[in-house]
Amino acid sequence: MEPDPILFDIPESFESERLLIRAPLPNDGRQVNEAVRESIDELRPWMPWAQSVPTAAQSEANIRHARLHFLQRTDMRLLLFAKANGQLIGSSGLHQIDWRVRRFEIGYWLRTSCTGQGYMTEAVEAIAQFAIGQLAANRIVIRCDERNEKSSRVAERLGFKLEGIVRHDELDVEGQPRSTKIFAKVRGVEF
Ligand SMILES: CC(C)(COP(=O)(O)OP(=O)(O)OC[C@H]1O[C@@H](n2cnc3c(N)ncnc32)[C@H](O)[C@@H]1OP(=O)(O)O)[C@@H](O)C(=O)NCCC(=O)NCCS
Repeated sequence: MEPDPILFDIPESFESERLLIRAPLPNDGRQVNEAVRESIDELRPWMPWAQSVPTAAQSEANIRHARLHFLQRTDMRLLLFAKANGQLIGSSGLHQIDWRVRRFEIGYWLRTSCTGQGYMTEAVEAIAQFAIGQLAANRIVIRCDERNEKSSRVAERLGFKLEGIVRHDELDVEGQPRSTKIFAKVRGVEF
C-alpha cells in the first residue's frame, strides 16, 4: 500500500537564480492581495478566481487554506519572491496531484510589474526540477486556454511537449466553451 503523503518530508522552500520559492505562510495574504490588485486586468481573462479584487481578509484566508493543503500534500501552492528585494512577484505551485502516478500540474501567474523578465520561466523550471528531484515526478503538466499565448510560451520555452488540444473541455471566464492546450514532460523522455 502507498504511504500516506502526509508522511512525506518535503522542503518548504528552495531557490533559483533570482527567486525564493516557498510554501505560503500566515500573513502572506497582504502581499498577495497587493499583487492581485495591481494585476487584476491581466489576470481576469484567464483566472476564474480573479473576476473581482479580493478583500485583504479573503486573500489571507486563501493563503491559510493553501498552507493547510500544502501540509496535507493535496495541493502545493508556491509563492515567488525576488531575492533582490523580497517582493512577492507572483504565485505558482503543483496542483491536481496524483501521488500514486506521481503526476503534478504547474499553474502560475505574475504580478504585472514583474512580467517580461523571464521570472516565470525561471520559476517553472525550478519547480519542475523540484518535482523531479524531491517528489519523484513521472509526469509534469501545464494546461492553458489555447488562446493564452503568453502562458503557452512559458511551457514551450522550457521544452514541455504539446500533447494536444482538448476541445471545449471547460468554460472560459465568460461562460463560453474553451479549448485547452495540454503540455507535459515525462520521465524517460523529457527528463
Ligand atoms: C502567463 C504569464 C505568467 C507569463 O508572463 P511572462 O512575463 O510572459 O513570462 P516570463 O516571466 O517567463 O517572461 C518571459 C518574457 O520575458 C522575456 N524575457 C526577458 N528576460 C528573460 C529571461 N532572462 N529569460 C526568459 N525570458 C526573458 C521573454 O522574451 C518573454 O517575452 P515574450 O513572451 O514576449 O517573448 C503572465 O502573462 C500572467 O501572469 N498572465 C496572467 C495569468 C495567466 O494567464 N496564467 C497562466 C494560466 S494557464
